[in-house]
Amino acid sequence: MIDEIFALFERFGSKRYGEDISLERHMLQSAAVAQSQGASDCLVAAALLHDIGYFLDPATQAIVREGRNSEHEALAALWLSQYFGEDVTCPVALHVEAKRYLCAAEPGYFEQLSEASRASLTAQGGPMAATETAGFEKSPYFAAAIALRRADDLAKDPAMVTPPLEHFRALLAVCLRNGMVRFSISTSLSAPISAFIPFTKSKF
Ligand SMILES: [Fe+2]
Repeated sequence: MIDEIFALFERFGSKRYGEDISLERHMLQSAAVAQSQGASDCLVAAALLHDIGYFLDPATQAIVREGRNSEHEALAALWLSQYFGEDVTCPVALHVEAKRYLCAAEPGYFEQLSEASRASLTAQGGPMAATETAGFEKSPYFAAAIALRRADDLAKDPAMVTPPLEHFRALLAVCLRNGMVRFSISTSLSAPISAFIPFTKSKF
């Protein structure tokens, strides 16, 4: 399982998605930032894996470049749920929603986003409406999703040096779900992803 994840990093990690660094460096930086801030092992794992949807379906990268919503977070969460529990999959599923929340709830947040993150916001639904922010705050994974988002935002630094991927192997092993059950993933995300984000909009 972990070897399968590492193989995806090896094959697709050098690709970019509109930022100044590769996806692998971005995801390693996200995990390193989360770990340096004292995040739980599962939240560090979520940070490391949050953009793995771009690896799973390379079409998502082109979709982002075209200014459309890739829903890469939903694909990532669904795929990861084969192996990890909600402590990993829910923050991953919610990291775009967390951006929409912070754009609505935190003055100045939008302005400090990277150019690519600002550009993708509209396609992702724009800042949350007041009714959405209230619902989002009630999620049991609200705090984890916000923490992951903040690590994500800090992880676009061409100068940041991180530990290698191997550094996180033991941590990933700890977070693997007991009694893993493999299941096939539907190509339609609409129904299954709603299980992760029951309070979110019907776009899933
Ligand atoms: Fe990211």
